[in-house]
Amino acid sequence: MRTEVGIVGAGPAGLLLAHLLHLAGIDTVVLEARSRQHVEERIRAGLLEQGTVDILTEAGLGDRLHREGLRHDGLELRFDGTGHRIDLHGLTGKRVTIYGQQEVVKDLIAARLAQGQPILFEVADTAVHDLDTTRPRITFRHEGRDQALDCDLIAGCDGFHGICRAAIPTGLLTVFERVYPFAWLGILAAAPPPSHELIYARHERGFALATMRSPSLSRLYLQCAPDEDAHAWSDDRIWAELHARLALHGAASQLREGTILQRGVTAMRSFVVEPMRHGRLFLAGDAAHIVPPTGAKGMNLAVADVRVLARAIEAFQRGRNMALLDAWSATALARIWKAQRFSWWMTSLLHRFDDADPFEHRLRLAELDYVCHSRAGAMSLAENYVGLPLD
Ligand code: APR
Ligand code: PHB
Repeated sequence: MRTEVGIVGAGPAGLLLAHLLHLAGIDTVVLEARSRQHVEERIRAGLLEQGTVDILTEAGLGDRLHREGLRHDGLELRFDGTGHRIDLHGLTGKRVTIYGQQEVVKDLIAARLAQGQPILFEVADTAVHDLDTTRPRITFRHEGRDQALDCDLIAGCDGFHGICRAAIPTGLLTVFERVYPFAWLGILAAAPPPSHELIYARHERGFALATMRSPSLSRLYLQCAPDEDAHAWSDDRIWAELHARLALHGAASQLREGTILQRGVTAMRSFVVEPMRHGRLFLAGDAAHIVPPTGAKGMNLAVADVRVLARAIEAFQRGRNMALLDAWSATALARIWKAQRFSWWMTSLLHRFDDADPFEHRLRLAELDYVCHSRAGAMSLAENYVGLPLD
């Protein structure tokens, strides 16, 4: 088999890259290790920056997103039993949209299949070869047959545990990493969310977040131990902990209980590799960087990466102009590091750190107070949260 760009991974990064390249008339093949059902049902975060919504809309992927997405103009920071609203729209003129990542993935897969373009699901033994030549190759097994795909370029969009980053010879990549001493226990519950906007709560028992998937489906998270077993928590314990952490002085927390439909634990990590390229292999999305979920930047960064990458690939395939591809890693990393800084900051501000001394504790409370009561402080949170401008 032969294609212009071989794409490993059918998450948001790989699927959107394939879509943008198709619109530019460039031929791609997408290879995915899991089944279609698995990638469409995998529950992940669900908050889109305005720039992400704009990119999806311009690419013709906005129909269901505009119908079903919930547009939010603000968020609440809750601490010391009091809520403080950050007016995202008033401060920045932008909004965010709640729309599950798996809904974006479903829309992308439907668009790809409607275009008659290939996605091979359930491929095994994927390997990338000859990366520092002009004819890189992907080998894999599909429906019981060994196959080889010759490419001009390969996009490694295969997530944090994929094979593409691992195929780059050691010593060529620099890794930057922070592992946090906690994780999130997340549930999906058949209950209306406690507020029409998101609530980020800092509490001495640990962080809690109340978000949603629809007006009748709550998505709720609790800071927990990094090795927590989600099934070791009874439903009652989860609800009691959420009530405690979301409690308000002199008012009901508004948290409503319902059947817990799903539960899981999300690890918290900051991770970047530099450069995001080796020869003709380009890493995008979680294959190259991970953020803790506190600022909801993961999918938004994957989308920004592939938008820049698609333009660079187009310039190369059309005019054999390598300049944008050569600049790609540095261009993408400039945005990635700002999102890394923001995600790390929001995580540090809102979580309980068991090893924090009383001085650090007071500093965090002062910073929260500053963010909630200074226009400059609130603006700094708001402009990062809604997404820094795309180029
Ligand atoms: N061969 C083929 N596909 C693979 C392989 C492999 N060897 N290894 C992994 N994959 C697939 C995974 O099954 C997954 O579907 O690559 C895909 C990677 O998708 P994501 O993990 O969703 O990563 P990405 O597209 O970069 O999207 C980033 O996903 O993890 C969230 O929070 C993150 O929202 C962010 C977004
Ligand atoms: C989510 O809706 O899953 C979500 C929203 C905001 C976050 C993290 C997760 O910061």
